[in-house]
Amino acid sequence: MKVVLAYSGGLDTSAILLLLKEKGYKVITVTVDVGLDEDLKGVEERAYMLGAYKHYTIDAKSEFAEKYISKAVKANALYEDSYPLGTALARPLIAEKVAEVAKYEEAEAVAHGCTGKGNDQVRFDSTLLYHLGPGAKIIAPVREMALTREMSMEILKRHGFQPPGSHGKYSIDENMWTRSIEGGPIDDEYLEPPEDAYAWTVAPEKAPDTPLYLEIEFQEGVPVAVNGEYMPLHHIVEKLNKEAGAHGYGRIDHIENRVVGLKSREVYEAPAAMVLINAHKDLEKHILTPRELRFKRLLDREWSDLVYQGLWIEPLRSHLEAAIDSMNKSITGTVRVKIYKGSLSIVGRKSPYSSYSKEAIDYNTGWYPTGEEAEGFVRIYTMHSLAAALARERQQEARLAGEAVQHH
Ligand code: ARG
Repeated sequence: MKVVLAYSGGLDTSAILLLLKEKGYKVITVTVDVGLDEDLKGVEERAYMLGAYKHYTIDAKSEFAEKYISKAVKANALYEDSYPLGTALARPLIAEKVAEVAKYEEAEAVAHGCTGKGNDQVRFDSTLLYHLGPGAKIIAPVREMALTREMSMEILKRHGFQPPGSHGKYSIDENMWTRSIEGGPIDDEYLEPPEDAYAWTVAPEKAPDTPLYLEIEFQEGVPVAVNGEYMPLHHIVEKLNKEAGAHGYGRIDHIENRVVGLKSREVYEAPAAMVLINAHKDLEKHILTPRELRFKRLLDREWSDLVYQGLWIEPLRSHLEAAIDSMNKSITGTVRVKIYKGSLSIVGRKSPYSSYSKEAIDYNTGWYPTGEEAEGFVRIYTMHSLAAALARERQQEARLAGEAVQHH
């Protein structure tokens, strides 16, 4: 009996490996590298030490960047205007790899470490069922047994193993797009997140006194170069995480509405994601018409909601992406970004496809409407609002006059 386990090397998935072995399974562990700060060789060794039958490490960094992050940038993907969706984007890719291994190994079941109180179970299960068929057997011990971190530690100790070190206070999920920090002291929503929650960013007050300038170049909505240096997207992301993070930029603290009916306090680090999304949004403003821009924001939100809610498989996504891609066809240009002690400003942008014209907007030169044209435009343009506003005023006066009569 074989089972394929999505394995991070953390406390819970390590305990699950042992539980599955107790049940008589041959456990095949899969670790998908979506830009983890982990020692992957160490994760593999731990899997074998705990008794894995076989281990796969799959490098999916460039695939994650090309097929998931690029879409997130094009869609300015921020769930509830705040969360760049790192965890949500990586889950479908991880689940797809787990499903591939399960098919190849002809495994009976797949397993993951998601809790029954979170979004990740939806993201994993939906993708697994899509690839393996609706009858697939999914084992999720954390949600089946309401496994707590204490119980996981007990299981490890019972088998004579030490719990993995760093995973103390927080529940952390990490990939190149976002570091998600949950639990422990952070659950107190009024408490400022302790400094030890952060790993990618320095405290803004400790950031360098000189600002960081970045020139981000986009082609058809996708970042292609930083400061004139062309590189693959995942290298851009890695570079910006380091450089913007060193300037204290990219910390997010917000209250989030989960798919499961709960609000949770979430803390994230996402320097590269926030730089790229802010720059991309600015370039869209420079290029799109006002109508395109307003409609684009609706598409962006719909796409982000689908991804957050674990519905990567939903057919609507491809229709949204067709429109999002089409609108990104002209999003080519360069944005200048200044980062200083934890905050970001856009300080310049240029594009060959913008309809912006310095000459046209200049008060002293170029096109100028005649006095008559401008005045006529304003009179006609404001007619609806003016007529309605005056009518409402008459109504209000009549009401007041009526009240005054009744009182006498
Ligand atoms: N709230 C985020 C989300 O739903 C982050 C989840 C982080 N997962 C974790 N195991 N800590 O995407």
